[in-house]
Amino acid sequence: MKNLWDDFPALSRKINGNRLVYLDNAATTLKPKSVIENISHFYLNNFANVHRAVHTLSSESTLKLEEAREILASFLNANGEEIIFTSGTTMSINMIVESFIRSGFIKEGDNVLITAIEHHANFVPWVRLSKFFGFSVHFIKPTGRFGTIEEKDLLKFKEFNPKIVSVTAHSNVTGQVIDIEQLRKIFPNSILIVDAAQLMPHEKIDVKSLDIDFLAFSAHKMLGPSGVGILYAKKEHLENMEPFLYGGEMIDKVSFDNVTFNELPYKFEAGTPNIAGIIGFGEAIKYLETLGFDNIKNHICSLTTYALKKLSEIKGLEIYGPMDERHQGIISFNLEGVHPHDLAHLLDEKFGVAVRSGHHCAQPLMSILKQESNLKVFPYGTCRASFYIYNNNEDIDILVKGIKSIKEWFNV
Ligand code: ALA
Repeated sequence: MKNLWDDFPALSRKINGNRLVYLDNAATTLKPKSVIENISHFYLNNFANVHRAVHTLSSESTLKLEEAREILASFLNANGEEIIFTSGTTMSINMIVESFIRSGFIKEGDNVLITAIEHHANFVPWVRLSKFFGFSVHFIKPTGRFGTIEEKDLLKFKEFNPKIVSVTAHSNVTGQVIDIEQLRKIFPNSILIVDAAQLMPHEKIDVKSLDIDFLAFSAHKMLGPSGVGILYAKKEHLENMEPFLYGGEMIDKVSFDNVTFNELPYKFEAGTPNIAGIIGFGEAIKYLETLGFDNIKNHICSLTTYALKKLSEIKGLEIYGPMDERHQGIISFNLEGVHPHDLAHLLDEKFGVAVRSGHHCAQPLMSILKQESNLKVFPYGTCRASFYIYNNNEDIDILVKGIKSIKEWFNV
């Protein structure tokens, strides 16, 4: 991967005199100039509400928003009417669950299968709403190294034939990539929902060839603005589903006693969307496509291999997840005797290294990591370094040097 630093103004920041080493990409990525300028240009020249007026600015805005939808549709190998703009992955998944309930897609007695390593966005909606609506949620528990899901963990549920399988494609904690093709083979008859928030930034997903029913991801984790997400769904599902949000734009006819809905995808897009954000997301996809997703994936895998090797050499550092090629882009760890928040704070203050610390919105997984942990006290959290296109091996060297120095200061 060529050096991209000139494209990312934030990388010229100094943090207490150190150059910024941004390793919090799983939380959100930095934004390239082209995306920032595109949004700014749109606000300065074209901005108006979409799909509502016949004047020039509104027509231009509508055209640009629909262009972004086409970029996203072609990116996923989907049709434009199957691409719904949401505020992010969390909204997309909540919309699926709520719409399923309203449409009778899930009801009392039905079985939903998720994993125990899910981010809360793909955990809480299922678990919470199962209490009110009587369906059952079952959990694929990881039996592999520190939260790693093995093939046998999935196969255990093969005969169970769950109605819905909803799984992350890439753990935001252990960095494990889940093989969606294999998942579909194991569950050929289930409605397959994929949380691609972490995988999509570095791997292209073809929804048709993988036979994915629903797919959710966020713009801000792949160079786009925050507050924009995608819900892909097969047209046949969308046609039969009751919308979750009611309001303007999603209707066809409204009378005092009846409502009919707009055509797809507008039926699921009530209210004014994040117009500039969506257009900026289209620009972000263009930037990533220019780099090439094969290059991006190779770069992320090479950084991960290098980081896993270097971090494993630090005595007292416990690394979570698999130690093989399934581990990509995201590395969680704890240093014996140092709380992850302290470690993250010192890495930032003394070395300019930005990492995330805490439970990463995956509390059930934290309890699983605790069971296998060799730490004297497991802090129910981890430090997490995550990589993207502008990172290099030197960033990892600085992280490693930082951890080693902090280890010495704490005398652990
Ligand atoms: N879900 C994001 C993360 O893992 C925010 O950090």
